[in-house]
Amino acid sequence: MARKLIAGNWKMNGQGPQLDFFDDLVNEIAEVDVDILICPPATLIERCARAADSTLIAIGGQDCHVNEKGAHTGDVSAGMLKDAGASFVIVGHSERRADHGETSAIVKAKAEAVLASGLTPVICVGETLAERESGEAERVVVEQMLASLPDEASDRCEIAYEPVWAIGTGKVASTDDILQMHSALNNALPSGVSARLLYGGSVKPDNAAAILSLHHVDGALVGGASLKASDFASIIKNSIR
Ligand code: PGA
Repeated sequence: MARKLIAGNWKMNGQGPQLDFFDDLVNEIAEVDVDILICPPATLIERCARAADSTLIAIGGQDCHVNEKGAHTGDVSAGMLKDAGASFVIVGHSERRADHGETSAIVKAKAEAVLASGLTPVICVGETLAERESGEAERVVVEQMLASLPDEASDRCEIAYEPVWAIGTGKVASTDDILQMHSALNNALPSGVSARLLYGGSVKPDNAAAILSLHHVDGALVGGASLKASDFASIIKNSIR
């Protein structure tokens, strides 16, 4: 069984004082048998990498450009994130897909850029409420995953299933729905691709154990509850029960 990955996505939150998070987290979780990742805003990556330096906590970006460098004002490349201390990059988060019109083709190009820089992409997929209500969730999400995966099979990819309607809303997919979706994604993974399948969408200390004990749930991508070290620590602890 793959080691679980508990990832935090700070989104557009956090300035200097948020760095206390690392000391607080390390104080709460001595040695744990899970991989831990924090994806802060780009402005904090270098400082977070320094704060996490003597810990087992990895640092990641939340997005990157498809190109390595050039005239793309305001963007950062995977290579720049690596230079700042990141080892993972989230690509295709639903907020990027919705707010910046990112298609799965763009997400795939970003995932390929991340791999080319020697980092690991965390590729996000998920259905809207309308798609779930019309019974299309599984088809949509499997198609999204296949269209977002890099062409060349790699065992250095993570996939996060995040139902759009469950992100930041306090609503969580039922354990049956998560189980079904993760089995479908696992079955649809092209041969040669061995990705961990994370669940995301209102993961909190009180629901983490139930979600993370499901078959084919290899970790979690946590938004709101990753900002507070005590909440994130309790999700980590609940993942290894
Ligand atoms: P949430 O966000 O945990 O606040 O729902 C999850 C995500 O967007 O990755």
